[in-house]
Parts: sequence; structure tokens; C-alpha cells
Amino acid sequence: MATIDAAPDRNASASIGDKTRAVIDTFDRYVVPNYRRFQVCLVRGEGSRVWDAEGAEYLDLFPGWGCNLLGHCPEPVVRAVQEQVARLIHVPNTWYTEPQGEWARLLSERSFGGQAFFCSSGTEANEAAIKLVRLRTDGKRYKIITFQGGFHGRTMGSVSATAQPKYHEGLGPMVAGFQYAPHGDLEAVEKLVDEHTGGILVEPILGEGGVVPAPAGFLQGLRRIADERDLLLVFDEVQCGCGRTGRWFGHQHFGVVPDVMTLAKSLCAGIAGGAMLTTVELAKHLRPGMHAATFGGNPVAAAAGVAAIRMIDDEGLLGHVDRAAALFRERLTAFKDRCDAVVDVRVIGMMIGVELSIDGAAVVQACLDRNLLVNCTQGRVIRLLPAMNISEADVVEGCDKLSDAILEVASRA
Ligand SMILES: Cc1ncc(COP(=O)(O)O)c(C=O)c1O
Repeated sequence: MATIDAAPDRNASASIGDKTRAVIDTFDRYVVPNYRRFQVCLVRGEGSRVWDAEGAEYLDLFPGWGCNLLGHCPEPVVRAVQEQVARLIHVPNTWYTEPQGEWARLLSERSFGGQAFFCSSGTEANEAAIKLVRLRTDGKRYKIITFQGGFHGRTMGSVSATAQPKYHEGLGPMVAGFQYAPHGDLEAVEKLVDEHTGGILVEPILGEGGVVPAPAGFLQGLRRIADERDLLLVFDEVQCGCGRTGRWFGHQHFGVVPDVMTLAKSLCAGIAGGAMLTTVELAKHLRPGMHAATFGGNPVAAAAGVAAIRMIDDEGLLGHVDRAAALFRERLTAFKDRCDAVVDVRVIGMMIGVELSIDGAAVVQACLDRNLLVNCTQGRVIRLLPAMNISEADVVEGCDKLSDAILEVASRA
């Protein structure tokens, strides 16, 4: 889980079933309480549906916090993982394996033709990118410009890159060298660049920051500055990459190509996996011995990653995303027209933000009361990261239940 804008309790008055109670008791005794959790224990999932330990069914518009790109337990991915896990679970990166090479090839062909470093999470992928920026100039140009409202992960490098004070509280001192600019402000970026600046790190579409696409011309401007000042342009596509937006990668909507791109979350459709992609030329700077990840590119993650890409191709899911997005947009903007509590609706493929003037956590709770799973970020933005293969009927049901929940909370406000 990425954000601290997280789960309120399941309706306090709702009774908790015996099976769920027993699991919660075990957690209370043995699991570090660093997450706010709903009082629900999920046991099974299929597509956009998930079931709890008491047998209740939910429509999940936020499957796996953006990791379950193809819904719960997509059959081709399950099959590929089962076959791989029975053949070779793990070998270290001192050996070659077929799935890792194939995975890198498929990613390269769909992006900018470079090479991949594999790891297991988004924060690790960003750490690799941060190291690459520094290694390119042997640490001389160690500074990286990032943006307010961005989110890059929880390890010390990535959290230092994250220009949101709430994630820094109590953790100081932060890793040196990150400079923060207002999102969308090219002039501020130009002013920050000096002889020690080595890169610019940005999400093409802010995810945790409220589902906000880069303003018109912003990424183009960053590309220009990076070219003029010899900086690496790094796109964090941990949330918006891998097909979620209806293009293989978020930056393909903007016609701007980065030097480095980081991926995770959706990359293996629910299995842990991360990657940093860069050009063949730049990849040479990540010299042997300078960076590694024990589980990076392991055969099971690689098999899942390959199966996910093939499923998206075989089932024409990029096109399906465009159709599902159009339906979400149509229904949610129609709702906005009749509900003052909706300030804005932002739909970029299966990355959807509904900005409210009322408390988002209360809406998440009202959705849960309707067996609908959604997320709230930045306090007032209902965030949906639906599965790419969501059915039209589920889009309609989800929008209806969400609208109903917003109306209920608005009537109380
Ligand atoms: C854009 C972005 N970058 C990085 C991360 C960190 O990824 P992980 O939680 O896999 O480390 C996230 C997680 O939400 C993210 O949204």
C-alpha cells in the first residue's frame, strides 16, 4: 500500500464474522500495525470480483492497489506461474534464464528499444534510476529535480525524491540531492538546474497525487530542458505504465520519450515485480557490482510478466481500455452535472480520479457498505484503478454505486 490516505474501518456497527474475527486477532498479535486495514478478510478473487471470508462478494474497482491490472487471478497468468513454479522457482542473476530475456525483449519492443534491469517493486526501480543518474557522471551531477505531488516510493532514496512532507515526517535527514519544483512549472525547473544537476524524475500522470495528467507541453518542456542541459529524463510509470491507460506506457499519450522509465505494480499482473528500462548506451553505466536485486527478474515474476503482456495483446485489451474509459467518462461526467459535490472527473484509461468537495474517506466507507471497493487519495480524490478487462456491466454497476455513495455522504455534509 502506498498512501496514508487509506482505509477507514468497516462500518463500525457492522458485525464482524467469526472467521474474520479470528484472522484480525492473529494480525493484532503478530503483524506490525503499519497499515490501516478494513475489517474485512479477502479470500478469493476472479476478474473484477472478490470475496471475503464470510462469503460476501465485492466489485473491486481498485484491485490490488493497481497491481492486478488484469483483474484477480487472470487465467493465462495463473497458468504461466503454475507451470514456471513447477519447473524452476528461483535462480540468482549469476545465470541466464529464458523468461527474463523474453520479458526484457517484450518490454523493449513496446517502449523505446532499450534494456531492462529487474527488481521486485516500484521503490526499488526508482532507486535503480537514481543510481543510474548518479553513476553516469560518477556522482558529480548527483542532483535530481522532482515535483510536488509526486510519489516515488518508501525506501530512503525514493521517499526523499517524493516531494510531499507528510511522507518525510520523523524520517530525517532525507537523502541529499533532491530538489522539488511545483508540478507543471517549467520555469522553476530551469531555475533549479545547476552544474550538479543530473536528472529530472516525474510521473507522466500523477497517481497518488490525485490522478493528474501532465499539463499540456510540460513533458515536452522537460524533454527540451533535459536535452539542452544534458540531464536524464526519468519517467516513473509505476502506476500509469504497462497498458493501464490504453497505451503500453503513459508517456506514449504525450509523444515524449524518456531516457529512463520505471515500472512495477501492474508489471506482473499481481506477482511482485519491478523494472527500470533505459537506453543501451545509458545501461552501460549500471556496471556489474554497482547495483543488484536478489529476486529481480526471477523466473516466476518473469513468466507472469510475459503472460500479462501476451494476454493484453491476445485479448486486444488496449482497445478495450479505450471503450471502458469512454463509458466511465460518460457516466461519471453525467453524474458530475447533477451533483455539486463532484468538482472534477479525470479519466485516462483505467486510471480514474473523481475529485470531490466532500470527505473522500466517508465516500470510500459508503462504497464499502455497498460492497464496492475504491480508494481515496489526497483526502478528496476517489481513485479507481480498474482491471483492463473490466466488463461494461461492471463499469455501469460501479459508477451507479459510487454515485449513490457520494450522494449519501453529500446529503450528510
Ligand atoms: C508512481 C509510483 N512510484 C513508485 C511507487 C512505489 O511502488 P512500490 O510500492 O511497489 O514500492 C508507487 C506506489 O504507489 C507509485 O504509485
